[in-house]
Amino acid sequence: MAEQQHIPLPLKYRPMTFDDVVGQEHVVRTLRHAIEANRIANAYLFIGPRGIGKTTTSRIFAKALNCTSPNGVEPCGKCVNCEEIAAGRSLDVVELDAASHNKVEDVRPIIESVQFKPVSSKFKIFIIDECHMLSTAAWNALLKTLEEPPPHVRFIFATTEGDKVLATIVSRCQRFDLRRIQTNDIVSRLRHVCELEKIDAEDDALLAIARGAEGGMRDALSSLDQLVSFKGEKVTEEDALGVFGLVSRSALEGLAGAILRGDVGAILSSIEAFDSAGKNMRRLTGELLRHFRNLVVVQALGPNAKSLEATPDQIKVLAAQAQAVDPGRLFRICDQLADAEDKLRYVLSVRTLIEMTLIRASRIATTATVEELMKAVRELKATGDVGSLRSARSAAPTEVAVAPAAASAAAPAKMPREDPPAPAATAPAAPAPAPAAPPPRPAKRVSRSDILNDKKLNDVLASLPGAVVSDIREA
Ligand SMILES: Nc1ncnc2c1ncn2[C@@H]1O[C@H](COP(=O)(O)OP(=O)(O)OP(=O)(O)O)[C@@H](O)[C@H]1O
Ligand SMILES: [Mg+2]
Ligand SMILES: [Zn+2]
Repeated sequence: MAEQQHIPLPLKYRPMTFDDVVGQEHVVRTLRHAIEANRIANAYLFIGPRGIGKTTTSRIFAKALNCTSPNGVEPCGKCVNCEEIAAGRSLDVVELDAASHNKVEDVRPIIESVQFKPVSSKFKIFIIDECHMLSTAAWNALLKTLEEPPPHVRFIFATTEGDKVLATIVSRCQRFDLRRIQTNDIVSRLRHVCELEKIDAEDDALLAIARGAEGGMRDALSSLDQLVSFKGEKVTEEDALGVFGLVSRSALEGLAGAILRGDVGAILSSIEAFDSAGKNMRRLTGELLRHFRNLVVVQALGPNAKSLEATPDQIKVLAAQAQAVDPGRLFRICDQLADAEDKLRYVLSVRTLIEMTLIRASRIATTATVEELMKAVRELKATGDVGSLRSARSAAPTEVAVAPAAASAAAPAKMPREDPPAPAATAPAAPAPAPAAPPPRPAKRVSRSDILNDKKLNDVLASLPGAVVSDIREA
């Protein structure tokens, strides 16, 4: 065992079949259909960020086309052709790394060799990686062959920078955009690798690695490899968080909970704690945005939504937080965070910007939205009781009052709780709670102008900077 050479995990676990490729179903499905229907395009172009399966998919496709005993459309992986392609020895599948071979002279051998039939396979396949690096002259030399290759020739191009590939080339290829891989899919793949490698890793450690990899499977596997070589075969969340400067899952959920319940004290002390622990503050904002985006998804589509990028443990917390907050507020919090993520690229005082953003987000979370107010006004008009405006105005604070309990129950926050809520935590635009409830009065019919001229209603409207009063009046 000790003498065995260590094969890096990304290399060792390169998928060998279409089935094994994670998170690129849209690409794999089309390629399979093409093989089944025997409709193979002259040229394919795979575009996407690093380490998400472009080279892997190109090789599987090449194998599938040249395999002598395929299982359906999957390459067998055992025949001479499959083995030679996997080892990079096949005479019929030529790989060119355009990052280092980008001149006309580099593509000339390809152009000259296309006229010769494949040695031992059905197709002669050229895989050109990082193809955006090819010089214009090299592309021009290839153009003619690309347009009308001999029937036995196929091209596969791969690149991280699709925008840099000339339009004349793109239009001669079948284009596929590979995606970043979802965090939960990366976690499942890591879990699978850990089982095979007998690595003992905490669930949250794998989640932290996946979060750190930002959608790249190669990066995720390399990080796991690195952690095992540093720490031995037991990987904890703390180890993984340290590598990326990420905040723990529970701390992140706790911070989101503090925002939802408008707890400015908890927000500020968390940021203080993260900053002094050297956490990556820019990443924190992006991750919070993803958390709030997930809350929107849970509200709209439920906790089993496919587009939810979360593990089962995260989904439990998301579901609890989502049911205690108004959708309109969530949208506005997402806007705030997205805006801050953008600004963070330019500002020097990262921490201050984040503090202000999160405090603003917490105010949004605890301030009545125009929609809520309109609803209250509509209800008021329906009952015709101007006096009930008081209860309409207190609707928002009531909802806010529910949020803290739900949010704190949801988040097993490591948030410091002892801080007294700062004054700003009380919702500013939300009107003060109603004084002792007045005794019930018999419903009184009022006219439209009574409502429109109601002083309290107008006060509330005036305190809402975004409210279009005329709309409300016509509503
Ligand atoms: N979709 C995927 N499913 C499973 N494993 C993957 C996937 N994508 C990447 N990997 C893992 O990452 C390694 C590198 O993938 P690959 O070479 O295909 O990336 P790439 O997209 O070509 O990246 P680059 O742009 O850096 O060339 C693979 O060997 C495999 O271990
Ligand atoms: Mg590649
Ligand atoms: Zn085979």
